[in-house]
Amino acid sequence: MIPLQQILAKTLKKITPAKQELAKEKKLAQKIAAQIMAMKGSHEKVEIVGSIARNTHLRNDRDLDIFVLYPKELPRKEFEEEGLRIGKAVFKGHKWEKAYSEHPYIRGEINGFRVEVVPSYNIADSSLMQSAVDRSVLHNNYLVKKMEERHKGEARLLKQFMKGIKCYGADLSSNSFPGYVAELLVLKYGSFAKTLEAAAHWKNGEAIDIENYYAEGDAQKKFGWHFTVVDPVDRNRNVVAALSLNQYARFIAASRAFMKKPSINFFFPKKHSAWSQVKLRQFLKKTELVAISLSYPKGVIEDIMWGQLRRFSHKIKTFSGLEGFEVKRSSEWLEKERHMVMLFEVESTELQKAEVKIGPEAFDEKNSEAFLSAHKQMLAGPRIEKGRWVIEVQRKHTELEAFLSQLLKKLRGAEKEAMGKALGKNAKIMSEKEIAALYKKSEGFRQFLTAYLKGKEEFLDY
Ligand code: UTP
Ligand code: MN
Repeated sequence: MIPLQQILAKTLKKITPAKQELAKEKKLAQKIAAQIMAMKGSHEKVEIVGSIARNTHLRNDRDLDIFVLYPKELPRKEFEEEGLRIGKAVFKGHKWEKAYSEHPYIRGEINGFRVEVVPSYNIADSSLMQSAVDRSVLHNNYLVKKMEERHKGEARLLKQFMKGIKCYGADLSSNSFPGYVAELLVLKYGSFAKTLEAAAHWKNGEAIDIENYYAEGDAQKKFGWHFTVVDPVDRNRNVVAALSLNQYARFIAASRAFMKKPSINFFFPKKHSAWSQVKLRQFLKKTELVAISLSYPKGVIEDIMWGQLRRFSHKIKTFSGLEGFEVKRSSEWLEKERHMVMLFEVESTELQKAEVKIGPEAFDEKNSEAFLSAHKQMLAGPRIEKGRWVIEVQRKHTELEAFLSQLLKKLRGAEKEAMGKALGKNAKIMSEKEIAALYKKSEGFRQFLTAYLKGKEEFLDY
């Protein structure tokens, strides 16, 4: 077994941006900041926040969070309009989109960096907060003050570990650990290894309160969540409110596995040895799996597309469930500017023509009457089974594929923006042959599908 220190040193070397890179990032950030300062408008200040400002970002993670600060007296409407105006001006000649957190802002790409230009109120502490993003500048001030040089590498290690086990990322749809939390954990426990040692024993209902705002047990009670990290700059906020139970559990289980048997694979997961075409086809025959392919619409930013794809997949799951096709597991994959695929696995891709509907107990006078008068068209019944009214009605859809094709057509009209464009082209159910063809063509899809079909937490194999 390679000793822990050696693994960490090797990892750190890979994830720390080179001096040259740091200088380049800084230069771009400062250039944009200066450009905004020079623009006419009611903004008072421009701040670079986020991990680049603190030198805790991962190498090749190219995002710049630039906050434009407005006087706290500026009315909300003007604040929003001004923010958008400045944002658009920054991205002149570049790719950009309007995005929404609590209020709209502009984000886009400049020289390969994902840049966000976020309007925010210039406030000294969270009691003066007018908009949720106002906290970010306070976060940055807090971390800049508290983080020592030795913490920075540790924070990078923790972020990369979370990334490797696929529970890192602040975007809401991933329900994962935000970077800010990784930094707070390192502050709390002192190092990466100590954080994992602690996490290995976390329970459902853990609470971390660095500034000791609450008495023992009170923070957990207040937020009532599986995990609480009280925001040091705002005692009324749980920084991990969006972290799912699943991702929380995954981090704990992986921490345990790593402390038991450290390996660099946790940070940099190995590629799956992809299955052969023959094995793939055999496996597909054994699963109740439907794949939908869509083409990636031109010029859409990847983060935005991910969000839309996940939301759309969720929608399909809901609609399918309503028709009786219970989706057991689903997953999404995309390759920028190329393909997108959604997978749905169901109990059965075919349903019986008759759907049994169970009504109220026959003793229940009022509801019996309502049930009987509400259902007129049926294949069989009403009869009484185990004391309840039961009827059988004809299903509208018995074949999942046919239902999904119809659903895609229907949703095409309803979807707007990026997803609308993706559906407008050639969204379709993939045949086994088409799945095999994409599998052959795309390394990314091979990795995705193999991992999906294995259906195993990857860190168990490290
Ligand atoms: P980022 O997601 O870019 O985080 O959000 P980060 O701290 O820069 O970490 P990296 O990029 O993953 O290395 C920018 C800022 O927005 C606030 C934090 O203040 C963060 O520093 N934020 C973001 C939150 O408070 N909560 C979130 O869930 C996301
Ligand atoms: Mn960032």
